[in-house]
Amino acid sequence: MKTKIIGTGSFVPDRVVTNQDLAGIVDTSDEWIRTRTGIGQRRILDGPGTSAMAAEAARRAMDNAGVGPEDIDIILVGTTTADHCFPSAACEVQGSLGAVRAVGYDISGACSGFIFALSTADALIRAQGYRVGLVIGADNLSKIVDWSDRSTCVLFGDGAGAAVVKGFEGQEEGGIIAADLGSDGRKAAVLQCQSRTMGNFLTGTKPEVGYITMEGQEVFKFAVKKVPECIQKVLEDTGTGIEEIKYFVLHQANYRICESIAKRLKVSMDRIPMNIEHYGNTSAATIPVLLDELNRGGKLEPGDKIILSGFGAGLTWGASLVQW
Ligand code: COA
Repeated sequence: MKTKIIGTGSFVPDRVVTNQDLAGIVDTSDEWIRTRTGIGQRRILDGPGTSAMAAEAARRAMDNAGVGPEDIDIILVGTTTADHCFPSAACEVQGSLGAVRAVGYDISGACSGFIFALSTADALIRAQGYRVGLVIGADNLSKIVDWSDRSTCVLFGDGAGAAVVKGFEGQEEGGIIAADLGSDGRKAAVLQCQSRTMGNFLTGTKPEVGYITMEGQEVFKFAVKKVPECIQKVLEDTGTGIEEIKYFVLHQANYRICESIAKRLKVSMDRIPMNIEHYGNTSAATIPVLLDELNRGGKLEPGDKIILSGFGAGLTWGASLVQW
């Protein structure tokens, strides 16, 4: 059994917030943000939340794949910003789509969430005989950003991306060939959003509101080391030459991080598609949104090998080798 991606979709909110807009609320500039990150603007959600974005991306992916809600067996949403403690975003997506046969749950891998969810869907399809899955990366980070902290608020945006995956029997070429996933909880404090407790008078717990905090340079160093390592591991494990890879679809956190990864892998930037300028870092959504742009732009031919790779809070990382 092999798992193939048979359709993609994405959704970003309409509201554009430019670097100049942010320069009006914190001490920053378009020039600083562009040169340090490659970001020009981001989309900010001011309507319904993560589940609504995820459901819209899923609808577009299902249209692209030619499948209906009744075909879906599993719904996995990589997110750290579900609208509620429970139900999960996946269950809300299920309800919104009317995918009544499916089982849905969320996967908390921060910006690696889509890669983790894709690998989990592949494992479920191979091991448990599910046929069609919806794998979604969706985040609404703007609600947990500290809009007075210039070192983080300029980086993030909101969005959702989705892929429909399907299990195939037999010799058919392609699909998810291999993945390498990792996490290092010892580095949890490097990038975190502390809990948002309601308070409990019985225990004396006070209400708290946590926002994203980050040691930017630590994250940078981690990303430029771990991402090339896990990509190289996947290539070695499968005997795949780096020259066989058409595109490296990387998490969009910082243009300079992607440039450093390209340098370490000794590949040119024309094999590393970028859209960070338009959306900023949309966490679990960056990879499926970019994948959808490539797919709809006609950039992927059957047989093409691509790498999907991300990293994020946890710290977490992962790479997946996919044949289109
Ligand atoms: N505008 C203007 N100045 C800013 C700023 C902003 N938005 N944010 C920080 N600065 C200032 C700092 O205060 C510092 O000033 P100082 O030298 O007077 O102390 C200076 O710019 C340099 O800060 P530094 O943190 O060293 O910059 P940097 O080159 O490391 O870039 C990041 C900062 C966050 C862009 C970079 O570290 C990064 O991208 N890290 C990875 C973050 C990431 O990807 N997170 C998500 C992972 S999923």
